[in-house]
Amino acid sequence: MEASETIVSKLKSYDQEHLLKFWGELSEQEQQQLTKQIESIDFDLMASLIQQRDESQGEAVSAGRIERAQSPAQLVRLSDSSESHEAAAKAEKRGHELLEQGKVGAILVAGGQGSRLGFDDPKGMFPIGPVSDRTLFQVMCEQLVARSRRHGKPIPYFIMTSEATHEPTVEFLKKNQYFGMGEENVFFFQQSSLPAVEHDSSRIHLAEKGRIATSPDGHGGMLRALEKHGLLQVMRDRGIEHLYYHQIDNPTAILCDPVMLGFHDQHESDLTTKVVEKVSPDEKMGVLVTIDGQTEIIEYSDLTPEQARMKDENGNDVFWAGNTAIHVFRRTFIERLLEDEFSLPFHIAHKKVPCIDSSGNPIDPDSPNAHKFEQFIFDALPKAEVALVVEGVRSREFNPVKNAEGNDSPETSRKALQEIARSWVEKAGGKVHPEATIEVSPLFALDEDELAARIDSGTEFQEDAVLAPK
Ligand code: UTP
Repeated sequence: MEASETIVSKLKSYDQEHLLKFWGELSEQEQQQLTKQIESIDFDLMASLIQQRDESQGEAVSAGRIERAQSPAQLVRLSDSSESHEAAAKAEKRGHELLEQGKVGAILVAGGQGSRLGFDDPKGMFPIGPVSDRTLFQVMCEQLVARSRRHGKPIPYFIMTSEATHEPTVEFLKKNQYFGMGEENVFFFQQSSLPAVEHDSSRIHLAEKGRIATSPDGHGGMLRALEKHGLLQVMRDRGIEHLYYHQIDNPTAILCDPVMLGFHDQHESDLTTKVVEKVSPDEKMGVLVTIDGQTEIIEYSDLTPEQARMKDENGNDVFWAGNTAIHVFRRTFIERLLEDEFSLPFHIAHKKVPCIDSSGNPIDPDSPNAHKFEQFIFDALPKAEVALVVEGVRSREFNPVKNAEGNDSPETSRKALQEIARSWVEKAGGKVHPEATIEVSPLFALDEDELAARIDSGTEFQEDAVLAPK
Protein backbone atom coordinates (compact mmCIF):
# COMPACT_ATOMS: atom_id res chain seq x y z
CA MET A 1 0.00 0.00 0.00
CA GLU A 2 1.20 3.51 -0.82
CA ALA A 3 1.17 6.18 1.88
CA SER A 4 -1.76 8.53 1.36
CA GLU A 5 -1.06 11.66 -0.62
CA THR A 6 -2.42 13.89 2.12
CA ILE A 7 0.08 12.46 4.57
CA VAL A 8 3.00 12.66 2.16
CA SER A 9 2.33 16.29 1.31
CA LYS A 10 1.69 17.18 4.95
CA LEU A 11 5.04 15.69 6.01
CA LYS A 12 6.78 17.38 3.08
CA SER A 13 5.45 20.79 4.06
CA TYR A 14 6.81 20.34 7.59
CA ASP A 15 10.14 18.80 6.46
CA GLN A 16 9.38 15.51 8.21
CA GLU A 17 9.28 13.16 5.21
CA HIS A 18 11.89 10.89 6.80
CA LEU A 19 9.06 9.47 8.95
CA LEU A 20 7.97 7.46 5.90
CA LYS A 21 11.47 6.31 4.93
CA PHE A 22 10.80 2.68 5.90
CA TRP A 23 7.16 2.64 4.74
CA GLY A 24 7.80 -0.05 2.12
CA GLU A 25 9.21 -2.42 4.75
CA LEU A 26 6.18 -2.19 7.06
CA SER A 27 3.31 -4.66 7.33
CA GLU A 28 -0.15 -3.34 6.57
CA GLN A 29 -0.92 -3.17 10.29
CA GLU A 30 2.28 -1.23 10.99
CA GLN A 31 1.44 1.16 8.15
CA GLN A 32 -1.97 1.77 9.67
CA GLN A 33 -0.46 2.40 13.09
CA LEU A 34 2.07 4.86 11.71
CA THR A 35 -0.64 6.65 9.73
CA LYS A 36 -2.73 6.95 12.89
CA GLN A 37 0.23 8.36 14.80
CA ILE A 38 1.03 10.90 12.08
CA GLU A 39 -2.60 11.99 11.91
CA SER A 40 -2.66 12.60 15.66
CA ILE A 41 0.35 14.96 15.60
CA ASP A 42 -0.26 18.70 15.66
CA PHE A 43 2.53 19.64 13.23
CA ASP A 44 1.84 23.37 13.57
CA LEU A 45 2.39 23.11 17.29
CA MET A 46 5.56 21.03 16.75
CA ALA A 47 6.93 23.56 14.27
CA SER A 48 6.38 26.39 16.72
CA LEU A 49 7.96 24.42 19.59
CA ILE A 50 11.01 23.63 17.47
CA GLN A 51 11.29 27.28 16.50
CA GLN A 52 11.00 28.30 20.17
CA ARG A 53 13.74 25.82 21.03
CA ASP A 54 16.02 27.17 18.31
CA GLU A 55 15.49 30.76 19.40
CA SER A 56 15.59 30.20 23.16
CA GLN A 57 18.58 31.34 25.13
CA GLY A 58 17.92 28.73 27.83
CA GLU A 59 15.08 29.02 30.32
CA ALA A 60 17.10 30.30 33.27
CA VAL A 61 15.33 32.81 35.48
CA SER A 62 17.16 36.13 35.30
CA ALA A 63 19.27 36.95 38.35
CA GLY A 64 17.33 40.16 38.95
CA ARG A 65 14.09 38.24 39.32
CA ILE A 66 15.58 35.81 41.78
CA GLU A 67 16.86 38.66 43.93
CA ARG A 68 13.35 40.14 44.01
CA ALA A 69 11.85 36.82 45.17
CA GLN A 70 10.15 36.70 48.54
CA SER A 71 8.63 33.99 50.69
CA PRO A 72 5.02 33.37 49.45
CA ALA A 73 2.83 36.42 50.10
CA GLN A 74 -0.47 34.66 50.79
CA LEU A 75 0.53 32.04 53.23
CA VAL A 76 -0.86 29.90 56.03
CA ARG A 77 2.12 28.66 58.06
CA LEU A 78 2.14 25.91 60.65
CA SER A 79 2.40 27.14 64.18
CA ASP A 80 1.62 25.91 67.66
CA SER A 81 -0.16 29.09 68.68
CA SER A 82 -3.77 28.87 69.83
CA GLU A 83 -4.81 31.36 67.09
CA SER A 84 -3.34 29.04 64.52
CA HIS A 85 -5.20 26.01 65.94
CA GLU A 86 -8.41 28.00 65.97
CA ALA A 87 -7.91 29.11 62.36
CA ALA A 88 -7.23 25.50 61.31
CA ALA A 89 -10.35 24.29 63.14
CA LYS A 90 -12.48 26.92 61.38
CA ALA A 91 -10.96 26.01 58.02
CA GLU A 92 -11.61 22.32 58.68
CA LYS A 93 -15.25 23.07 59.44
CA ARG A 94 -15.58 24.93 56.13
CA GLY A 95 -13.87 22.03 54.34
CA HIS A 96 -16.37 19.59 55.88
CA GLU A 97 -19.24 21.76 54.64
CA LEU A 98 -17.88 21.75 51.08
CA LEU A 99 -17.53 17.97 51.20
CA GLU A 100 -21.01 17.53 52.68
CA GLN A 101 -22.46 19.70 49.93
CA GLY A 102 -20.81 17.46 47.31
CA LYS A 103 -18.82 20.36 45.87
CA VAL A 104 -15.45 18.60 45.84
CA GLY A 105 -13.88 16.32 43.23
CA ALA A 106 -10.35 14.90 42.96
CA ILE A 107 -7.90 14.83 40.06
CA LEU A 108 -5.09 12.28 39.95
CA VAL A 109 -2.32 12.69 37.39
CA ALA A 110 -1.04 9.24 36.57
CA GLY A 111 0.28 9.56 33.04
CA GLY A 112 3.98 9.85 33.85
CA GLN A 113 6.60 7.39 32.67
CA GLY A 114 8.03 6.74 36.14
CA SER A 115 11.45 6.21 34.60
CA ARG A 116 13.38 6.86 37.82
CA LEU A 117 11.51 4.11 39.69
CA GLY A 118 12.03 1.65 36.83
CA PHE A 119 8.75 -0.26 37.39
CA ASP A 120 7.24 -1.79 34.24
CA ASP A 121 3.55 -1.24 35.04
CA PRO A 122 1.92 2.14 35.70
CA LYS A 123 3.27 3.54 38.98
CA GLY A 124 -0.18 3.31 40.59
CA MET A 125 0.15 -0.48 40.49
CA PHE A 126 3.28 -0.33 42.61
CA PRO A 127 2.86 -2.21 45.94
CA ILE A 128 3.48 0.28 48.74
CA GLY A 129 1.67 -1.10 51.81
CA PRO A 130 4.38 -1.94 54.35
CA VAL A 131 2.62 -5.18 55.36
CA SER A 132 -0.08 -5.94 52.78
CA ASP A 133 1.46 -4.84 49.47
CA ARG A 134 -1.54 -2.52 49.00
CA THR A 135 -0.91 -0.61 45.74
CA LEU A 136 -0.69 3.17 45.38
CA PHE A 137 -4.02 3.10 43.48
CA GLN A 138 -5.68 1.21 46.32
CA VAL A 139 -4.40 3.62 48.98
CA MET A 140 -5.75 6.58 46.99
CA CYS A 141 -9.15 5.05 46.17
CA GLU A 142 -9.69 3.81 49.74
CA GLN A 143 -8.98 7.30 51.05
CA LEU A 144 -11.62 8.77 48.75
CA VAL A 145 -14.15 6.06 49.60
CA ALA A 146 -13.61 6.66 53.33
CA ARG A 147 -13.83 10.43 52.93
CA SER A 148 -16.99 10.31 50.86
CA ARG A 149 -18.62 7.94 53.37
CA ARG A 150 -17.67 10.24 56.21
CA HIS A 151 -19.25 13.28 54.54
CA GLY A 152 -22.17 11.46 52.93
CA LYS A 153 -21.45 12.53 49.33
CA PRO A 154 -19.55 10.79 46.53
CA ILE A 155 -16.27 12.37 45.44
CA PRO A 156 -15.79 11.94 41.68
CA TYR A 157 -12.25 10.89 40.78
CA PHE A 158 -10.78 12.18 37.51
CA ILE A 159 -7.77 10.01 36.67
CA MET A 160 -5.37 11.19 33.96
CA THR A 161 -3.57 8.47 32.04
CA SER A 162 -1.32 8.54 28.98
CA GLU A 163 -0.77 6.40 25.90
CA ALA A 164 1.41 4.01 27.89
CA THR A 165 -0.56 3.91 31.16
CA HIS A 166 -4.16 4.09 29.92
CA GLU A 167 -5.07 0.48 29.19
CA PRO A 168 -3.29 -1.16 32.14
CA THR A 169 -4.68 1.48 34.53
CA VAL A 170 -8.28 1.08 33.38
CA GLU A 171 -7.98 -2.70 33.41
CA PHE A 172 -6.42 -2.79 36.88
CA LEU A 173 -9.00 -0.54 38.50
CA LYS A 174 -11.87 -2.31 36.79
CA LYS A 175 -10.57 -5.71 37.87
CA ASN A 176 -10.48 -4.45 41.44
CA GLN A 177 -13.99 -2.92 41.26
CA TYR A 178 -12.47 0.55 41.59
CA PHE A 179 -11.63 -0.34 45.20
CA GLY A 180 -15.18 0.55 46.20
CA MET A 181 -15.35 3.95 44.45
CA GLY A 182 -18.29 2.93 42.24
CA GLU A 183 -17.79 2.96 38.46
CA GLU A 184 -20.02 6.06 38.14
CA ASN A 185 -17.51 8.07 40.20
CA VAL A 186 -14.36 7.23 38.24
CA PHE A 187 -13.51 9.12 35.05
CA PHE A 188 -10.39 8.20 33.08
CA PHE A 189 -8.98 10.72 30.64
CA GLN A 190 -5.94 10.16 28.48
CA GLN A 191 -3.51 13.04 27.99
CA SER A 192 -1.89 13.72 24.63
CA SER A 193 1.58 12.68 23.55
CA LEU A 194 4.14 14.75 21.69
CA PRO A 195 6.96 13.50 19.48
CA ALA A 196 10.60 13.71 20.59
CA VAL A 197 12.80 15.78 18.30
CA GLU A 198 16.47 15.18 17.42
CA HIS A 199 18.52 17.52 19.59
CA ASP A 200 20.70 18.72 16.73
CA SER A 201 18.06 19.03 14.01
CA SER A 202 14.35 19.64 13.52
CA ARG A 203 13.59 16.03 12.66
CA ILE A 204 11.16 14.00 14.73
CA HIS A 205 12.71 10.79 16.11
CA LEU A 206 11.51 7.40 14.93
CA ALA A 207 11.51 4.85 17.75
CA GLU A 208 11.13 2.02 15.23
CA LYS A 209 10.67 1.88 11.48
CA GLY A 210 6.92 2.14 11.90
CA ARG A 211 6.64 4.07 15.17
CA ILE A 212 7.36 7.66 16.15
CA ALA A 213 9.07 8.25 19.52
CA THR A 214 6.51 10.05 21.65
CA SER A 215 6.04 10.88 25.32
CA PRO A 216 3.23 12.40 27.39
CA ASP A 217 2.90 16.19 27.18
CA GLY A 218 3.53 16.82 30.90
CA HIS A 219 1.13 17.16 33.85
CA GLY A 220 0.12 20.55 32.45
CA GLY A 221 -1.46 18.59 29.58
CA MET A 222 -4.23 17.89 32.08
CA LEU A 223 -6.06 21.09 31.19
CA ARG A 224 -6.54 20.30 27.50
CA ALA A 225 -7.19 16.64 28.25
CA LEU A 226 -9.98 17.48 30.74
CA GLU A 227 -11.62 19.70 28.15
CA LYS A 228 -11.16 17.24 25.29
CA HIS A 229 -12.89 14.50 27.26
CA GLY A 230 -15.83 16.73 28.23
CA LEU A 231 -15.02 16.48 31.92
CA LEU A 232 -15.51 20.13 32.78
CA GLN A 233 -19.13 19.66 31.78
CA VAL A 234 -19.31 16.57 34.01
CA MET A 235 -17.93 18.68 36.88
CA ARG A 236 -20.49 21.41 36.25
CA ASP A 237 -23.33 18.89 35.99
CA ARG A 238 -22.32 17.33 39.29
CA GLY A 239 -21.99 20.65 41.06
CA ILE A 240 -18.24 20.31 41.61
CA GLU A 241 -16.63 23.63 42.48
CA HIS A 242 -13.22 22.62 43.83
CA LEU A 243 -10.76 20.03 42.60
CA TYR A 244 -8.18 18.47 44.88
CA TYR A 245 -5.21 17.68 42.60
CA HIS A 246 -2.50 15.18 43.47
CA GLN A 247 0.17 12.91 42.01
CA ILE A 248 0.26 9.14 42.00
CA ASP A 249 3.53 8.84 43.90
CA ASN A 250 2.65 10.17 47.38
CA PRO A 251 0.58 7.69 49.44
CA THR A 252 0.60 9.97 52.50
CA ALA A 253 -1.13 12.91 50.79
CA ILE A 254 -4.35 13.63 52.68
CA LEU A 255 -6.82 13.40 49.80
CA CYS A 256 -9.42 16.19 49.85
CA ASP A 257 -7.87 17.49 53.06
CA PRO A 258 -10.72 19.48 54.68
CA VAL A 259 -8.32 21.98 56.30
CA MET A 260 -6.68 22.81 52.95
CA LEU A 261 -10.07 23.00 51.22
CA GLY A 262 -11.37 25.29 53.94
CA PHE A 263 -8.44 27.72 53.79
CA HIS A 264 -8.70 27.70 49.99
CA ASP A 265 -12.35 28.67 50.09
CA GLN A 266 -12.05 31.18 52.93
CA HIS A 267 -9.28 33.03 51.03
CA GLU A 268 -11.27 32.86 47.78
CA SER A 269 -8.22 31.26 46.26
CA ASP A 270 -8.12 30.19 42.61
CA LEU A 271 -5.26 27.82 43.21
CA THR A 272 -3.98 26.64 46.58
CA THR A 273 -0.71 24.77 47.00
CA LYS A 274 0.48 22.63 49.88
CA VAL A 275 4.14 23.23 50.72
CA VAL A 276 6.54 21.71 53.23
CA GLU A 277 9.71 23.18 54.62
CA LYS A 278 12.78 22.06 52.67
CA VAL A 279 15.23 20.02 54.73
CA SER A 280 18.15 22.11 53.47
CA PRO A 281 18.65 24.95 50.99
CA ASP A 282 20.22 22.59 48.45
CA GLU A 283 17.44 19.99 48.56
CA LYS A 284 16.30 19.28 44.99
CA MET A 285 12.78 20.60 45.26
CA GLY A 286 10.89 23.39 43.49
CA VAL A 287 10.09 26.31 45.79
CA LEU A 288 7.07 28.59 46.00
CA VAL A 289 7.88 32.29 46.00
CA THR A 290 6.25 35.59 45.25
CA ILE A 291 8.00 37.79 42.67
CA ASP A 292 6.64 41.24 41.81
CA GLY A 293 3.32 40.32 43.40
CA GLN A 294 2.90 37.00 41.55
CA THR A 295 3.17 33.58 43.14
CA GLU A 296 5.24 31.09 41.19
CA ILE A 297 7.56 28.12 41.46
CA ILE A 298 11.29 28.35 40.96
CA GLU A 299 12.89 25.07 40.06
CA TYR A 300 15.91 24.05 42.10
CA SER A 301 17.99 23.87 38.94
CA ASP A 302 17.42 27.62 38.39
CA LEU A 303 19.12 28.55 41.67
CA THR A 304 22.86 28.63 42.29
CA PRO A 305 23.87 27.23 45.71
CA GLU A 306 24.40 30.82 46.94
CA GLN A 307 21.01 31.96 45.68
CA ALA A 308 19.33 28.95 47.31
CA ARG A 309 20.59 30.23 50.70
CA MET A 310 19.24 33.77 50.18
CA LYS A 311 17.77 35.35 53.35
CA ASP A 312 15.09 38.03 53.72
CA GLU A 313 15.51 41.23 55.77
CA ASN A 314 14.62 39.30 58.95
CA GLY A 315 17.31 36.71 58.33
CA ASN A 316 14.83 33.98 57.31
CA ASP A 317 15.29 31.69 54.29
CA VAL A 318 13.46 32.97 51.20
CA PHE A 319 13.45 29.60 49.42
CA TRP A 320 12.03 27.35 52.14
CA ALA A 321 8.56 26.49 50.77
CA GLY A 322 9.03 23.17 48.94
CA ASN A 323 6.34 22.25 46.42
CA THR A 324 4.50 18.99 47.23
CA ALA A 325 2.51 19.15 43.95
CA ILE A 326 -0.69 18.99 45.97
CA HIS A 327 -3.10 21.70 44.86
CA VAL A 328 -6.73 22.72 45.09
CA PHE A 329 -8.13 24.31 41.93
CA ARG A 330 -11.31 26.33 41.77
CA ARG A 331 -13.21 24.86 38.81
CA THR A 332 -13.86 28.29 37.33
CA PHE A 333 -10.10 28.93 37.37
CA ILE A 334 -9.50 25.75 35.31
CA GLU A 335 -12.11 27.05 32.87
CA ARG A 336 -10.28 30.38 32.67
CA LEU A 337 -6.93 28.62 32.06
CA LEU A 338 -8.43 27.04 28.98
CA GLU A 339 -8.94 30.40 27.34
CA ASP A 340 -6.13 30.88 24.82
CA GLU A 341 -4.38 33.82 26.39
CA PHE A 342 -3.92 31.86 29.60
CA SER A 343 -2.39 28.75 28.05
CA LEU A 344 0.66 27.31 29.76
CA PRO A 345 4.16 27.54 28.28
CA PHE A 346 6.09 24.47 27.11
CA HIS A 347 9.38 23.45 28.75
CA ILE A 348 12.13 21.69 26.85
CA ALA A 349 13.88 18.68 28.37
CA HIS A 350 17.09 17.17 26.98
CA LYS A 351 16.63 13.40 27.31
CA LYS A 352 17.93 10.01 26.19
CA VAL A 353 15.42 8.52 23.77
CA PRO A 354 15.91 5.06 22.19
CA CYS A 355 15.45 5.45 18.44
CA ILE A 356 16.67 4.27 15.03
CA ASP A 357 19.28 5.93 12.85
CA SER A 358 18.80 6.90 9.20
CA SER A 359 19.64 3.34 8.12
CA GLY A 360 17.07 1.87 10.51
CA ASN A 361 19.58 0.55 13.07
CA PRO A 362 18.43 0.75 16.71
CA ILE A 363 20.25 3.20 18.97
CA ASP A 364 20.15 3.07 22.76
CA PRO A 365 21.89 6.36 23.53
CA ASP A 366 24.15 6.79 26.56
CA SER A 367 23.82 10.55 26.49
CA PRO A 368 20.84 12.81 25.71
CA ASN A 369 19.95 12.82 22.02
CA ALA A 370 16.47 14.34 22.00
CA HIS A 371 14.33 17.24 23.06
CA LYS A 372 10.97 16.57 24.68
CA PHE A 373 8.30 19.22 25.20
CA GLU A 374 6.17 19.34 28.32
CA GLN A 375 3.75 21.65 30.10
CA PHE A 376 3.85 21.92 33.90
CA ILE A 377 0.65 22.47 35.85
CA PHE A 378 2.35 24.78 38.33
CA ASP A 379 2.81 27.37 35.57
CA ALA A 380 -0.85 28.13 36.29
CA LEU A 381 0.18 29.76 39.58
CA PRO A 382 1.10 33.22 38.26
CA LYS A 383 -2.19 33.29 36.36
CA ALA A 384 -4.25 32.98 39.55
CA GLU A 385 -5.80 36.12 40.98
CA VAL A 386 -5.44 34.61 44.43
CA ALA A 387 -2.82 31.87 44.87
CA LEU A 388 -2.77 30.66 48.44
CA VAL A 389 0.09 28.64 49.93
CA VAL A 390 -0.61 26.36 52.90
CA GLU A 391 2.14 24.67 54.87
CA GLY A 392 1.76 20.99 55.75
CA VAL A 393 3.55 18.60 58.09
CA ARG A 394 6.22 16.98 55.98
CA SER A 395 6.55 13.62 57.77
CA ARG A 396 2.75 13.18 57.68
CA GLU A 397 1.95 14.44 54.19
CA PHE A 398 4.87 14.24 51.81
CA ASN A 399 6.60 10.92 51.25
CA PRO A 400 6.74 10.33 47.49
CA VAL A 401 8.02 7.32 45.59
CA LYS A 402 10.26 8.77 42.89
CA ASN A 403 13.53 6.81 42.90
CA ALA A 404 14.26 3.08 43.03
CA GLU A 405 16.56 3.59 46.02
CA GLY A 406 17.74 6.24 48.45
CA ASN A 407 15.67 9.32 49.17
CA ASP A 408 12.04 9.45 47.98
CA SER A 409 12.04 5.71 47.32
CA PRO A 410 9.68 2.82 48.17
CA GLU A 411 11.77 2.24 51.30
CA THR A 412 11.38 5.79 52.66
CA SER A 413 7.71 5.95 51.70
CA ARG A 414 6.84 2.60 53.38
CA LYS A 415 8.78 3.65 56.46
CA ALA A 416 6.70 6.85 56.62
CA LEU A 417 3.41 4.91 56.33
CA GLN A 418 4.65 2.64 59.09
CA GLU A 419 5.65 5.55 61.37
CA ILE A 420 2.33 7.33 60.82
CA ALA A 421 0.44 4.14 61.79
CA ARG A 422 2.63 3.66 64.85
CA SER A 423 2.08 7.24 66.01
CA TRP A 424 -1.71 6.88 65.63
CA VAL A 425 -1.72 3.67 67.70
CA GLU A 426 0.39 5.32 70.39
CA LYS A 427 -1.88 8.40 70.47
CA ALA A 428 -4.80 6.00 70.95
CA GLY A 429 -3.04 4.65 74.03
CA GLY A 430 -1.85 1.46 72.33
CA LYS A 431 1.61 0.05 71.74
CA VAL A 432 3.47 -1.41 68.77
CA HIS A 433 6.40 -3.75 69.49
CA PRO A 434 9.62 -2.19 68.11
CA GLU A 435 10.01 -5.07 65.64
CA ALA A 436 6.38 -5.04 64.47
CA THR A 437 4.92 -3.10 61.53
CA ILE A 438 1.36 -1.82 61.46
CA GLU A 439 -0.48 -0.79 58.32
CA VAL A 440 -3.79 1.07 58.50
CA SER A 441 -6.29 0.84 55.65
CA PRO A 442 -7.89 4.24 55.04
CA LEU A 443 -11.20 2.33 55.23
CA PHE A 444 -10.40 1.48 58.86
CA ALA A 445 -9.22 4.95 59.88
CA LEU A 446 -8.52 8.12 57.92
CA ASP A 447 -6.83 9.87 60.82
CA GLU A 448 -5.67 9.41 64.40
CA ASP A 449 -9.02 10.35 65.93
CA GLU A 450 -10.80 7.70 63.92
CA LEU A 451 -8.20 5.11 64.87
CA ALA A 452 -8.57 6.04 68.55
CA ALA A 453 -12.30 5.41 68.25
CA ARG A 454 -11.68 1.98 66.72
CA ILE A 455 -9.10 0.36 68.96
CA ASP A 456 -9.12 -0.05 72.72
CA SER A 457 -6.52 1.99 74.53
CA GLY A 458 -3.96 -0.45 75.83
CA THR A 459 -4.08 -2.57 72.65
CA GLU A 460 -0.64 -4.05 71.99
CA PHE A 461 0.64 -5.19 68.61
CA GLN A 462 3.42 -7.78 69.00
CA GLU A 463 3.45 -8.79 65.33
CA ASP A 464 2.93 -7.23 61.90
CA ALA A 465 -0.73 -6.40 61.32
CA VAL A 466 -3.01 -4.75 58.80
CA LEU A 467 -5.88 -2.82 60.36
CA ALA A 468 -8.72 -3.07 57.85
CA PRO A 469 -12.49 -3.43 58.11
CA LYS A 470 -13.59 -7.06 58.62
P1 UTP B 1 7.15 13.14 37.68
O1 UTP B 1 7.62 14.50 37.43
O2 UTP B 1 7.62 12.47 38.92
O3 UTP B 1 7.45 12.27 36.40
O4 UTP B 1 5.56 13.17 37.66
P2 UTP B 1 7.25 10.72 36.12
O5 UTP B 1 7.14 10.60 34.63
O6 UTP B 1 6.13 10.11 36.91
O7 UTP B 1 8.58 10.04 36.64
P3 UTP B 1 10.08 10.11 36.06
O8 UTP B 1 10.47 11.56 36.12
O9 UTP B 1 10.04 9.54 34.67
O10 UTP B 1 10.84 9.25 37.03
C1 UTP B 1 4.83 13.70 38.70
C2 UTP B 1 3.38 13.29 38.55
O11 UTP B 1 2.85 13.80 37.33
C3 UTP B 1 2.34 12.74 36.54
C4 UTP B 1 3.04 11.50 37.04
O12 UTP B 1 2.28 10.35 36.75
C5 UTP B 1 3.13 11.79 38.52
O13 UTP B 1 1.90 11.52 39.19
N1 UTP B 1 2.62 13.05 35.12
C6 UTP B 1 3.86 13.44 34.73
C7 UTP B 1 1.60 12.91 34.21
O14 UTP B 1 0.46 12.53 34.58
N2 UTP B 1 1.85 13.19 32.91
C8 UTP B 1 3.07 13.60 32.48
O15 UTP B 1 3.22 13.85 31.26
C9 UTP B 1 4.10 13.73 33.42
